[in-house]
Amino acid sequence: MAVSTEQQLQERIAELESELAKRAREAAAKEQQLERYAADLRETFKEERARALQLRQSYMLTVRALANAVEARDIYLGRHAERVAAYGLQLADVYGMRLGDDPEIEFGFLLHDAGKVAVPDAILFKPGRLTHAERLTIEQHPVAGAEIVRDIDFLGAARDVIRHHHERWDGTGYPDKLAGEDIPVSARVFAVADTLDALTTNRPYRRASTIAQARVIIVQAAGTHFDPTVIEAFKELSDDAIERIRLRIG
Ligand SMILES: [Fe+2]
Repeated sequence: MAVSTEQQLQERIAELESELAKRAREAAAKEQQLERYAADLRETFKEERARALQLRQSYMLTVRALANAVEARDIYLGRHAERVAAYGLQLADVYGMRLGDDPEIEFGFLLHDAGKVAVPDAILFKPGRLTHAERLTIEQHPVAGAEIVRDIDFLGAARDVIRHHHERWDGTGYPDKLAGEDIPVSARVFAVADTLDALTTNRPYRRASTIAQARVIIVQAAGTHFDPTVIEAFKELSDDAIERIRLRIG
């Protein structure tokens, strides 16, 4: 009887051991399967990221082509759009704008003057004083620009920069006479970058100012032309950072 009980016990132990071994094999198989899923997910994520990057690069090429088409008309502009976009990005960074949330804003910086294609050469390049009507035509370029890019979904917040880059903090700008914080922040930041580039490059009617001279003019316009908080950030932007951009994008 004792022998039979012991035998039964040993059989039971052997059964349990075999069951355990079976469970261990199943667990190992599941772990392997999970690892495979994780590897697949990592691969998919990597592919998605590469695709997103590729898409952004082709958007960027399209935007640059459009910006170049606008600038090709005006030899004095040179690479104004690229330079002003670089100033704008630096200033936005110092200002604390999280451009990572709105990568399209750079497109807006590049395309800000897209609407100038709608301004006739005779007005855009008129050497003398503009008549009231001619000035009004030029002041329509942000509206024309916004209209041109209206249906381009990927431009997103870039459209704000295009429409509002000539608004002024005190409400006397154009085209919508927006004032203060009603002006989208991207356009408020851009306006400073645009003026910095305009002042520090040669134009047919005047020579370029130095960075120091441009700083004085821009800082004086805090609260009238420009958002005072953006001007505070502009003061923190170093001459070196500005000079580096000027050298890189001459
Ligand atoms: Fe403009």
